[in-house]
Amino acid sequence: MKKSEKYGVGKLIHHWKYYDALNTFTDDIPFYLELSKKVKGSILELCCGTGRVTIPIAKAGVNITGADFTTSMLVAAKRKAKKENLEVTFIKQDMRKLSLNKKFNLIFIPFNSLQNTYTLHDMEKIFQSIKKHLSSEGIFAFDIFNPSIHLIVELEKKKRKIGKMVLENGTKVTLSESCKYDSAAQVSRIT
Ligand SMILES: C[S@@+](CC[C@H](N)C(=O)[O-])C[C@H]1O[C@@H](n2cnc3c(N)ncnc32)[C@H](O)[C@@H]1O
Repeated sequence: MKKSEKYGVGKLIHHWKYYDALNTFTDDIPFYLELSKKVKGSILELCCGTGRVTIPIAKAGVNITGADFTTSMLVAAKRKAKKENLEVTFIKQDMRKLSLNKKFNLIFIPFNSLQNTYTLHDMEKIFQSIKKHLSSEGIFAFDIFNPSIHLIVELEKKKRKIGKMVLENGTKVTLSESCKYDSAAQVSRIT
């Protein structure tokens, strides 16, 4: 793997506690739930994170597998499934080199997660992995954020508060983010 392809995700935002406190969005769940119910057979969610979408789908009685490469997110997802008495398979996999020895009738990547991929080469590897794991009539679904130059410029101007939370020990936390856009690489780096 080339140095430019050796990336994980930020420790802070992808620590499940901070992630769940900040990401309470649910508007996309009905879309993926409906699609999952329509598809007969096996379903794979890539970049499942803490199961924000996986758990409601499993609750509806759909057999779903969730894959992600961040351990803390998977630990949280498994804990949630256990709490709800749900049988969900959560596996640690990098979607750039998926190896599951199985084909799925639906593979989906929700919540802009495909955009955590920073090189064209990696993007190609993901699509090859998906092709390898999709049945002949299978469906691949994803959503992505379509960045506007206006928004990129606005986000670069100043640090913004993005959320507040209180930890179990009573500590109050405020999260802020600042963005830097690398136009040559077409990558936005968020701190
Ligand atoms: C924005 S979060 C989305 C989590 C969840 N799907 C949701 O909707 O809340 C992005 C997730 O993608 C995962 N991810 C990013 N690149 C990945 C890769 N190459 N392989 C597997 N997981 C990846 C991260 O670990 C993170 O949990």
